[in-house]
Amino acid sequence: MTPPPIPWWKRTTTYQIYPRSFADANGDGIGDLQGVLGKLDYLQDLGVETLWLSPFFESPQADFGYDVSDYHAIAPEYGTMDDCRELIAAVHARGMKIVFDMVLNHTSDRHPWFLESRSSLDSPRRDFYIWRDGRRPSGAAPPNNWKSMLGGSGWHRDPSSGQWYWASFLGFQPDLNYRNPAVKAAMLATVRHWLAEGVDGLRLDIFNALFKDASFADNPFSWRAVPSEDNPHGFFQRNLHTIDHPDTIAFARELRAVVDEFHDPSRFLVGEVFGDAATLRRYCGEAADGLHLVFLFATMRARFSGKAVRALVEEYEQSFPEPFSPTYVLGNHDRPRSIHRVGGHRDKAKLVATLQLTVRGVPFIYYGEEIGMENHDIPLHEGLDPVAARYRFVPQWLVGLLRKRGILLNRDECRAPMQWDDGPHAGFSTGTPWLPAHPASPTVNVAAQKDDPASLLSCYRNLLALRRESDALQAGALEWIDDRQLSADVVAYRRVSGHDRAQVFLNFSGRAIPLTLGSSDSGRTVFSNRTGARTPSPAGYTLAPHEGIVVLER
Ligand code: GLC
Repeated sequence: MTPPPIPWWKRTTTYQIYPRSFADANGDGIGDLQGVLGKLDYLQDLGVETLWLSPFFESPQADFGYDVSDYHAIAPEYGTMDDCRELIAAVHARGMKIVFDMVLNHTSDRHPWFLESRSSLDSPRRDFYIWRDGRRPSGAAPPNNWKSMLGGSGWHRDPSSGQWYWASFLGFQPDLNYRNPAVKAAMLATVRHWLAEGVDGLRLDIFNALFKDASFADNPFSWRAVPSEDNPHGFFQRNLHTIDHPDTIAFARELRAVVDEFHDPSRFLVGEVFGDAATLRRYCGEAADGLHLVFLFATMRARFSGKAVRALVEEYEQSFPEPFSPTYVLGNHDRPRSIHRVGGHRDKAKLVATLQLTVRGVPFIYYGEEIGMENHDIPLHEGLDPVAARYRFVPQWLVGLLRKRGILLNRDECRAPMQWDDGPHAGFSTGTPWLPAHPASPTVNVAAQKDDPASLLSCYRNLLALRRESDALQAGALEWIDDRQLSADVVAYRRVSGHDRAQVFLNFSGRAIPLTLGSSDSGRTVFSNRTGARTPSPAGYTLAPHEGIVVLER
């Protein structure tokens, strides 16, 4: 029996667009949907296949779109419903796919539901959100000890009723009450609405927080101070009742069933969840009937060494064996720019890209990563990001230390305008951009790298082209190439899909390492991150410092 075909979303390469910062077509300083439309040639030429857009729905923009006030309308600064439909159609016409960002956990506090909910104790929508009486006789203390994801109580008191509402993130993002069937039905209707519009997948914002425990019991104490990607507990508590609730994991399957109503093409869900690999896997369902993918953020913390990278891939392979698939995420709109982790070193960045685009899993590329855009060092007190406002008291040295640990207190740093050329505002806008362009934009930009075969951009383009040609790289199993003679600095694996096979050798050291492997003699080297060009057979090949090569065996 022939195995069922591998679904498209498992083979795809994804590119995240932060619409506000990508391209501004109307000169108001804010990126927009027409801007994205104008850059589709660039994206197609780059070779990415699926575009994920951060939210552009109606919103007061207090968290730049992650605070939705109407899930069915487009915020005017991004465009109109016609622009949105035009974008979906134009992406599809190019054989590409498009993914929207669904903020299911919370709405804006300006969403009509919340306005109605907070208006009175007996509003028919009161129960759309999570309201509780406070403790102490006067209700002056929060209902329990639960902390928000950013630290501090996640309860906010509404002066008109004296009750408290729950918000997992910031106070202006009240959590919806998924224990109310009307809420669930309304949000599932929203999901169906966008899938019916032709959207190919949904990215699910802080999905791990959806259900809170109905007992409202206190969370237990923990010694952990700072939460991280692989362990979201922190601020001295274990988020037993607020994160990874069994009902949230069950809801992943319910949501999957809704998405599975849509065929030809099939659609997919990718969840923003945090924790160790085993916890994350639970969201995908024991029978692979939950979320199709979850972001694996541990990649962002892996050290740049052969040993650390091999351990990471091994862990992902073990936790996400077929039919599951790992994801490889180097950056996003909340984290330090990925080149920061390799100290701005271009060759190292090329090596990491070679790993990301040849290993088994779905890669997510954050806009600008392909040209090596750096963090924009914007002081905390100048940050427009509401998270920066919340942490304004933190000294700048601590901001730097946390950034090194992968935590951004001012997320403006990674959201600077896309660097298109060396013109004013990096070619992003003819107006004044909402965030200033990075000072390096005159040299680090698309125009400067486009025709340079040795550029980071060319490296990405070559890798993406290679991957599109190779069934093994898109969908093959991963086997380790174990050779005792091979240095531990070299990560070596083979991707295998039927007769199509590819070998990958990645040198994580700063010295040249000869490959003595007999197995590589039979292939032909088709890619090197150093030369950019296709090189001859690897027999007796010596890997240059930080060189990665791909050898196709056919
Ligand atoms: C997610 C988003 C982040 C947003 C938060 C609240 O972590 O990625 O940008 O601020 O959720 O919606």
